[in-house]
Amino acid sequence: MAEKQAVVSALKAVLPELSEEEIASKVEAPKDSKMGDLAFPTFTLAKVLRKAPQMIAADIVEKINQDGFEKVVATGPYVNFFLDKKEVTAETLKKVLKAGMNYGENSDGEGKNIALDMSSPNIAKPMSMGHLRSTVIGNALANLSAKNGYKPVKINHLGDWGTQFGKLIYAYKTWGSEAEVKADPIATLLKYYVEFHEKAKENPALDDEGRAWFKKLEDGDPEAHKLWSWFREESLKEFTEIYDRLGITFDSFNGEAFYNDKMDRVVKALEDKNLLQESQGAQIVDLSPINENLTPAMIKRSDGATLYMTRDLAAAMYRKDTYDFAKSLYVVGGEQREHFQQLKAVLTLLDLPWADDVEHIPFGLITFNGKKMSTRKGDVVLLKDVLDDAHELALKQIEEKNPTLANKEQVAEEVGAGAVVFHDLMNDRTNNFDFNIAEVVRFEGDTGPYVQYTNARAQSILRKAGVAVDTENITLDDAATWDIITALNAFPDTVRRAFAHREPSVIAKYALGLARAFNKYYANSKILADDENKNGRLALVAAVSETLTVSLSILGVKAPKEM
Ligand code: ARG
Repeated sequence: MAEKQAVVSALKAVLPELSEEEIASKVEAPKDSKMGDLAFPTFTLAKVLRKAPQMIAADIVEKINQDGFEKVVATGPYVNFFLDKKEVTAETLKKVLKAGMNYGENSDGEGKNIALDMSSPNIAKPMSMGHLRSTVIGNALANLSAKNGYKPVKINHLGDWGTQFGKLIYAYKTWGSEAEVKADPIATLLKYYVEFHEKAKENPALDDEGRAWFKKLEDGDPEAHKLWSWFREESLKEFTEIYDRLGITFDSFNGEAFYNDKMDRVVKALEDKNLLQESQGAQIVDLSPINENLTPAMIKRSDGATLYMTRDLAAAMYRKDTYDFAKSLYVVGGEQREHFQQLKAVLTLLDLPWADDVEHIPFGLITFNGKKMSTRKGDVVLLKDVLDDAHELALKQIEEKNPTLANKEQVAEEVGAGAVVFHDLMNDRTNNFDFNIAEVVRFEGDTGPYVQYTNARAQSILRKAGVAVDTENITLDDAATWDIITALNAFPDTVRRAFAHREPSVIAKYALGLARAFNKYYANSKILADDENKNGRLALVAAVSETLTVSLSILGVKAPKEM
């Protein structure tokens, strides 16, 4: 925080025996803001300086350079700092307006890449709410890493390989129809898959048929490959519609199948280190040297087929070679925690120096109006439907609040999609939560539309003002703005903290807090009154709008100027 640094620097000049870090660790906000904006307690210095704390505080006040502060006073054992709020306010607003959309940026990660494994839905199945979470959390983390100076690489590790495709090929060949698939690809493929499981319950021989077709696929059988690649393509088309609506792009769609011919090196590396063991015909790696509680990692099944784990090991190595990542983040639900512990353990046993840079970013489960969903049973909530419903609800509220708005459909889409994304990101990543669309698309309360609406309100004030903000000469002497100024100043730190904790919710909560502070101010002051503070107030409105817009853009949410 800029103000804290000013206090630390001033103290350092009169306390040469302490380091800046030591001083910074002691500076705190007084419990009662009447006591000052920041305080420095002197108790712990008594021993070092061999003086009573009260004396130390009084000495500091006598010697300290008070420039930039309204006043510095000793109160018992505390040195209390009162900031020159007018000065801080003007500096803060200038800083924000000068930076614009770059506000909050830093160069911590310069020259470093961050690989993000995100979204990664399974083809021939509808994208679930879980994949939505991975998509939007991954996207927000990518944006956050960029804000912190890193270069993100967004990888969609499509689930496009595995025995289920053998089952699907069998089902399609036995009772499917091309026309039916073409008309509604994912829904139809899902239907075949569900039917396969129902039939296999009565007739377990079907499972063998499925396995046989997967074996053919793995061995490169042209018919199997052609069907698989068609299923993949049709699925991707549907996924892309969702990604487009969310405004999310990827740098790579290399999914599991991509690693088919890249797994020999995994097996070879494991053999070279004598890590492969046979267990009931399968090849496994014993992970107990790393953690006694970990079950062994399965590398090859007894029929020689490779597994999810093997493909992930190949992918991890490929990504290190290709992107030379500083960190490799896997944004995948908490139910795969053990898988990623195993993955990391195998990489560690292989002595790969970057094993520690592999990080699972788990998240909680979404229930839908209280219910869990299962693809096997076919009771899925389609993301497309969720986005459509959100759009409708947003449109309804726009019709009520602003019936003459020009591009209602587009704004409704930005608000609807924004509401769904914001809600997902607002909760601590690992919390489970229930999704209730009516709650999510409200214009009031802790919602994305509330933040968007606040920004649109700020934009409307600026339009009404009819004059450009003078960003060079800002004066604003208004104690009621202090909460907003403090929040604006906290943004750069917030961007750092959010990425350090891999927690987009830090930004969402920040945006809600800033929006609330602004609305409180808006309700109690005449922003457009013609007095000497008018330009300052407009600068404040512009700075709030800018910072809300940047926050929303980190989260992947649009900020319409009117709604
Ligand atoms: N397709 C998987 C699923 O839906 C998620 C893949 C996550 N990424 C990975 N590298 N394992 O469960």
